[in-house]
Amino acid sequence: MSKSLSGIYLPVFGGIALVCGVAIAVANRGYGNSQIETLQTRLAQVEAQKASALTEAEESAARLAELETRLSELESKAANAVVGGEPVAAHEGSFGLGRPALPEEIAAWNVDVLPDGRGLPEGSGDVFTGEEVFAEKCAACHGDFAEGVDNWPVLAGGFGTLANEDPVKTVGSYWPYLTTVWDYVHRSMPFGEAGTLSADETYAIVAYILYSNDLVDDEFELNQDNLATFEMPNRDGFVIDDRPQREYAEWRTEPCMENCKDSVEITRRATFLDVTPDDGEDSAMAAGDDAETPTFTAASAATEAPSDQVAAEPAAAEVDPDLVAAGKNVFKKCSACHQVGDGAKNRTGPHLNGLFGRTFGSVEGFGYSSVFKAANDEGRVWDEAELDAFLAKPKAYMKGTKMSFAGLKKEEDRAALNAYLATFGE
Ligand code: HEC
Ligand code: HEC
Repeated sequence: MSKSLSGIYLPVFGGIALVCGVAIAVANRGYGNSQIETLQTRLAQVEAQKASALTEAEESAARLAELETRLSELESKAANAVVGGEPVAAHEGSFGLGRPALPEEIAAWNVDVLPDGRGLPEGSGDVFTGEEVFAEKCAACHGDFAEGVDNWPVLAGGFGTLANEDPVKTVGSYWPYLTTVWDYVHRSMPFGEAGTLSADETYAIVAYILYSNDLVDDEFELNQDNLATFEMPNRDGFVIDDRPQREYAEWRTEPCMENCKDSVEITRRATFLDVTPDDGEDSAMAAGDDAETPTFTAASAATEAPSDQVAAEPAAAEVDPDLVAAGKNVFKKCSACHQVGDGAKNRTGPHLNGLFGRTFGSVEGFGYSSVFKAANDEGRVWDEAELDAFLAKPKAYMKGTKMSFAGLKKEEDRAALNAYLATFGE
């Protein structure tokens, strides 16, 4: 408080001192009495101003004190405020913002499981249950036997390959602790739907992954008591990283300060050196064009016609650029599995160039599920309505599809995607 008061007084005193100084200096120069009198009057005026400034400052100080009392009242009220039925204390020294996390909020974050089993919740699950849950939630990517579909990670096998040039690192061959498997699966799988597995489901899945690795038999049941003590084959394959002690000194030399190379010249660029080549082997699409598969409908032939058209050319005249941009953004959800544009290839899913007008399941060289093969036989053709319905609920609309994607709930996302995909011709 004294600090704020001095802030108010000091300029006042400073002003007075200045005026007095001027008065004395002027008097010494021998001005006439009348002028001295004027100055004395002026001085008196200044004295009066000073008095009123002081009163004002005192008033401000009083108001400040009042506000401070009010603030501390509010703070103590906040401290006693009731949140979720529990009294919550204000943070010390703060402005009373925020509140301590509730126990259930902390519990939701505090899910880590340590190698000694700390953090494992109660629960259990057996291989048999695990097989069912795995088939439903994991097999689309990791394969029915954890062998991995396409480029999705393999979770089983690979024993004895770690020292090879191309090691197969799986849960069985590589991971040192089973607790990590539990923690990882529970925390981050299924990919895209992390955090949805219950403790029991996770125990069952982990038991099934062990079974897929031939590490347990089909009667095996995993629970919070036997998990941490389960010995993984590669548990001794990890060493403490002591390079800072052993190696850093060897690599650390004095910087060159004399007779150094005088200039660095860039001789070639990575693009010319072809360090990151795009693999020229093209492609299912080109082959498809030549072969003219009989399943192609008139509609697809029609969109095929301007085949030398640039991929990003808008197909329709009235294209809303904002919508297309929004669609491009939504497509990030698809791009893990689908490619579009120049040189698009089949990945986990078929490329999506020239989609509208294309028969279902018709991209050459892509292995479709039987539901897509059936749709192809029926001659069903992709249009915006079909795509909208499919993307809303892929698994329901094409029952048995191997596209593991939950769907786009928002209609505007689907509309944007429709607009975006329409911009890609053959
Ligand atoms: C949509 C595809 C998909 C689904 C479904 C899925 N995963 Fe995964 N899984 C992945 C991807 C991608 C990675 C690699 C993630 C990374 O490296 O960041 C992965 C990694 C893993 C790994 C680590 C593999 C390793 O050696 O690094 C395990 C274990 C795993 N998943 C288990 C599961 C289980 C169990 C389920 C079912 C509950 C499941 N996943 C469902 C895609 C999927
Ligand atoms: C996890 C991988 C994955 C993701 C993510 C994914 N797809 Fe698919 N998609 C597939 C697979 C696999 C197929 C083949 C389906 C089948 O054969 O059952 C497919 C098929 C399709 C087809 C049918 C193509 C044809 O030739 O008949 C369309 C259209 C499609 N996806 C659009 C999308 C869109 C749009 C998104 C994003 C909103 C998306 N997909 C997200 C994997 C995926």
